[in-house]
Amino acid sequence: MTTTETEKKRFSFPTVIVLAMILLVVFLTCVPYLVTIALAEGPAERATADASPIFGVTIPQGYKQWELIAPAEEAAPLDELRAVVGNQTAIDAYQAGKFPFPDGTILVKRAWKRKQSPEFASATIPGAATTVQVMVKDSKKYAATGGWGFGRFVNGKPVDEAQHRTCFACHEARAKSRDYVFTRLAP
Ligand code: HEC
Repeated sequence: MTTTETEKKRFSFPTVIVLAMILLVVFLTCVPYLVTIALAEGPAERATADASPIFGVTIPQGYKQWELIAPAEEAAPLDELRAVVGNQTAIDAYQAGKFPFPDGTILVKRAWKRKQSPEFASATIPGAATTVQVMVKDSKKYAATGGWGFGRFVNGKPVDEAQHRTCFACHEARAKSRDYVFTRLAP
């Protein structure tokens, strides 16, 4: 080996280390930013599109597995079968029988078109799902509407703002003494 070659080798090794360190620092600096951007844009965008106007309420995950509070039936012209279900906070509050419902309570009203059973003429079964309606208790966030945030969804998408303006008025006019909730625990 000539002197110049040895020098070159000795020179290049630390250079590689330094370059690698710089790249590592740049990479590590960028990662948190990239993660933040990815997290902020992905779910946030979806949440906005799927959230109700005014209240920002979304369809809660797993509500189809929630416990039944009571079924209901709506006469014509809607002609629907309904089931109000609640998360564990709601069920605990119902069982304790205390008003107001605590923050974190979520009530969901599911609804279906009435359908005659194909097997048994006098039996009525759920037909197509029509709406999913949600009430979320957050006494601070929704202080102006009795502590409840509202959401009405058709095919998974929230309906317009005008419809969301009607929710609290009706619940307030008729169910104020029961923390704005109509449904009683089915016996
Ligand atoms: C004209 C009156 C009226 C309006 C407007 C109304 N509701 Fe209700 N809501 C009721 C009645 C009555 C019940 C009781 C269950 C049933 O009969 O279906 C109910 C029940 C509910 C329940 C189950 C908990 C409870 O209070 O029994 C939810 C959730 C709900 N409504 C959400 C909404 C949302 C969201 C809106 C607005 C998009 C809305 N409601 C608008 C009358 C109304």
